[in-house]
Amino acid sequence: MTAKPESDRIAIVGMGYVGLPLALQFCRSGVSVTGLDIDAAKVASINKGESYIRHIASADIAQETAAGRFTATTDFSACRNVSAVLICVPTPLDEHHAPDISYVLDTGRAIAPHLPRGCLVVLESTTYPGTTDGELRDVLEAGSGLKAGVDFHLAFSPEREDPGRTSSTVKTIPKVVGGLTPDCRDRAAVLYGRAVDQVVPVSSCRVAEATKLLENIFRSVNIALVNELKLVYEAMGIDVWEVIEAAKTKPFGFMAFYPGPGLGGHCIPIDPFYLTWKAREFGQHTRFIELAGEINTAMPDYVVRVVTRALNDDAKPVRGSTVLLAGLAYKPNVDDERESPAYAIMKKLESLGATVLYNDPFVPVIRPTREHPEFAGRKSVPLTTAADAVVIVTAHDEYRAFGWATLACPIIDSRNAVTARPQKYYRA
Ligand SMILES: NC(=O)c1ccc[n+]([C@@H]2O[C@H](COP(=O)([O-])OP(=O)(O)OC[C@H]3O[C@@H](n4cnc5c(N)ncnc54)[C@H](O)[C@@H]3O)[C@@H](O)[C@H]2O)c1
Repeated sequence: MTAKPESDRIAIVGMGYVGLPLALQFCRSGVSVTGLDIDAAKVASINKGESYIRHIASADIAQETAAGRFTATTDFSACRNVSAVLICVPTPLDEHHAPDISYVLDTGRAIAPHLPRGCLVVLESTTYPGTTDGELRDVLEAGSGLKAGVDFHLAFSPEREDPGRTSSTVKTIPKVVGGLTPDCRDRAAVLYGRAVDQVVPVSSCRVAEATKLLENIFRSVNIALVNELKLVYEAMGIDVWEVIEAAKTKPFGFMAFYPGPGLGGHCIPIDPFYLTWKAREFGQHTRFIELAGEINTAMPDYVVRVVTRALNDDAKPVRGSTVLLAGLAYKPNVDDERESPAYAIMKKLESLGATVLYNDPFVPVIRPTREHPEFAGRKSVPLTTAADAVVIVTAHDEYRAFGWATLACPIIDSRNAVTARPQKYYRA
């Protein structure tokens, strides 16, 4: 292939939690970026230099737009003027818990008619092995009339974004890259090498896709393990948090994972099931994944059982009680509440007749989501709002510092977030 000379503009499709920080890192490295999104509001915000993600500063966007390095559009014909297109769109599960790669394929169909010969296309969205060199390749070739590996380069490089983490950044997190051909991989490695400190080349797109799934399955299984141990040790009167702190002192062969009210976010509750689905095609069963899923999705039920017990100790039924959830986000200090276990807890308590309120300094209003449209528009209330019980769902820093001991109602703590314990304190 006569590769298109490395133009200094690339396109990134999907200006969400993954695509936006990636775009900024490329800009900071001297590579100009056109951000593509079907969400016109995000496009408008970027072009005004305004952030819509809490942990990304507007000033960081404004600096790059003012310098002319960063621009955004909904018009996919912008792909005609770039040397590479990186795809960072959602990969959720459908209502049958099967992979929904429609966003990836829609993106492929949208860019294909504008794909310049010699361009590099990289998928970053988490998915099952075979998506890049199978379904995505098919739509790109069909829509462009070009041949992958011959007329354009094709690669997969999984995103390892961890929103809210300050100790590592897009620049310092090593980037795994697999290509359809060695040339595809090398081309992608050169591009990422401009923006990140370390590129880890692997032999194929499928190995790169499988690497990302291993990373997330590893988390899901280990979180399930400590969630199960929480219940076992609780029955024995042993504090699992103290056990983990002690085990953590072992300098080898142990990595700390922490129990909680259930999994949340766009990755860990979803990605493992991408492999489960694909494995069936090969007659393989993913028992660890299924078991971990079973344990983790049962955790909100456990929290609700503890809330019921706490209210009962206070001579109150769940029906008619007001329960305040402290934290809607799925992890501390971020504004991302997708797939949060708070929603499962909310639903279960309301089905028992409770009135459920929430406080979250990072989520003032619940946005419309595909999974829980019924909660859209609800607003965060002050933490001190009168309630019959408070459940700590997220360990925001603000909650760790809060004076829980001043509250008279039962406090149900699913995150070990309370240091000075109130009189009516329950672990969940
Ligand atoms: N959020 C994370 O922490 C994280 C970490 C690692 C990997 N990932 C993976 O990265 C991918 C993206 O996740 P995210 O959290 O950034 O999602 P997101 O929902 O925050 O952003 C996705 C963006 O894509 C846009 N979009 C959807 N369909 C489109 C289309 N056809 N054309 C153009 N734009 C389109 C949406 O409007 C949205 O702005 C997923 O596969 C996810 O599993 C996410």
